[in-house]
Amino acid sequence: MGTVIEIREIPEADVGRMVDLAGMVFHVRVEEGDHERDGWRVRRAGRIGAYDGGTLAGQVAAIPMRLAVPGAFLDCSAVTYVGVLPTHRRRGVLTSMMERMHADAAAAGRPVAVLWASQGAIYGRYGYGLATRAISLEVDSSRPLRLRTVPDERPLRLVDPASAAEVVGPIHNRALAARPGGLVRDDEWWKRGILPPADPETAPGFTEPRVVVHPAGYAVYRTNEEETVRVTDLVAETPAVEAALWRYLASIDLTRRVQAPNRPVDDLLPHMAADPDQVVVKKDAGALWLRLLDVPGALVSRSWATGDTFVLEVRDDRVPANEGRWRLATGTAPACDRTAGEPDLTLSAADLAAVYLGGMRVTTLVRVGVVTEHTPGAAARLDAALAVPLAPYMNDDF
Ligand SMILES: CC(C)(COP(=O)(O)OP(=O)(O)OC[C@H]1O[C@@H](n2cnc3c(N)ncnc32)[C@H](O)[C@@H]1OP(=O)(O)O)[C@@H](O)C(=O)NCCC(=O)NCCS
Repeated sequence: MGTVIEIREIPEADVGRMVDLAGMVFHVRVEEGDHERDGWRVRRAGRIGAYDGGTLAGQVAAIPMRLAVPGAFLDCSAVTYVGVLPTHRRRGVLTSMMERMHADAAAAGRPVAVLWASQGAIYGRYGYGLATRAISLEVDSSRPLRLRTVPDERPLRLVDPASAAEVVGPIHNRALAARPGGLVRDDEWWKRGILPPADPETAPGFTEPRVVVHPAGYAVYRTNEEETVRVTDLVAETPAVEAALWRYLASIDLTRRVQAPNRPVDDLLPHMAADPDQVVVKKDAGALWLRLLDVPGALVSRSWATGDTFVLEVRDDRVPANEGRWRLATGTAPACDRTAGEPDLTLSAADLAAVYLGGMRVTTLVRVGVVTEHTPGAAARLDAALAVPLAPYMNDDF
C-alpha cells in the first residue's frame, strides 16, 4: 500500500503485457505466439491501464463496435480484458478504470457499452444490466433427427473458412437487423474472432472450423474424435432453412451428438424436434451485460413496438447526465426530453439497460421489487413498447 496508481492509456507496445496480465487473472497459460495471436482484439481497442510504477497492475480494453438494437445499429464499446493483479485487488483500481473507460466512450459519442462477465456480481455497480440470456443445446444424433418442420431442400455446400466471410457476412448482417443483440463483424472479426484455426476457449481439442452454407443461412462448427459436433454460429433466415442446417449437423457420419453452447432463448430447435427428448436444453444462463451511457440517446435510437408516452425517473449515481426525470415518447418518431412531471416509473440505469433490448420485462422487475411503478399499468405499457419479435442474442466472443 501507499503507492500511487496511475490510470493512463496503455501504449501498443504494452499489448503483450496485457496478454500476460489476462493470463494471470484468468489462470490461462500464455505460450509462445499467444502475444501476437491473442492481442488482436486489444490492438483495435481503447486500452486503459493502472500502472504502479513500471508495473501494469490493472487493465480494461474497450473495442469500438456496432451493436444491433431494435431497428438500428449503435456505436458501442465492447469491453474486455478486464483484470487487476492479485496483489492490487480491492483498492478501487477497477472502479477508477471503469470510470475512465465510460468517460472515454461518452466523449467518443458511444451511447452504449457491452461486456461478457466472468463473474456476474461485478458489473451491476457500474450501471450494467443483464440484457440477454442464452441457452446451451445438445442433440442426440446417434439416431436420425426427426423434425416437425419441413427442411428447405436447396443444396448445402461447404466453403473455405478463409473466404467464408464474403459469403456468410451478408447473411449475418440480415440476421442482425431481424434480431437485436449482436455485433456487426468486419473481415478481421470474422477471420480471427469467429473462424480462427483453433478455438481453445469454446472448442478445445476440436478441428479447424467448417462452414456449411445454404442460400439463406449458414452454420460454423467443429468436430472432435469423441464424436461431437460443436456448433459455434448458426443463422437461418427461415425456420425451414434452420431445419435443414440442424438436420445436416445431426447427420454427419462418425458423430453421436451435436452441442450448441450459445443459442438464443427462443431457439426453434427444441420445438421443431419430433421427440423432445432428442434435443435437451442443458443450460440457461445470463449472457450480455449492457450499459446505457447516454440514456436519452439510446432511447430515441431504437425502434418501438407501440406509440406511448412515459415519464421515467432514472437513477444513475455514476453517470450524472442520465440521472433525473425523462419524458419518453415512443412510436415512429421517438423523443426523450427532461421533464419536471410526475414519474410513471422509477428505475436504475442498470435496470433500464436490462430491458432495453427487449429481453427482460419491466413488469418482472416491478415484481422483483427493483423498479417502482407509480402509475398502474405503466410497466405493462412500457413492456409492450419495448417488445421485439425475436429475443435478443449475442454470439460474439470478446
Ligand atoms: C474483478 C476484478 C477486476 C476487480 O478488481 P478490483 O480492482 O479489485 O476492484 P475494485 O477494488 O475497484 O472493486 C470495486 C467493487 O467491486 C467489488 N468486487 C470486486 N471484485 C468482485 C468480485 N469478484 N465479486 C464481487 N464483488 C467484487 C469490490 O468489493 C468493490 O465493492 P465496493 O465498491 O462495494 O467496495 C479483479 O478482482 C480481477 O482481476 N479478477 C479476476 C479477473 C476477472 O474476473 N475479471 C473480470 C472479467 S469480466
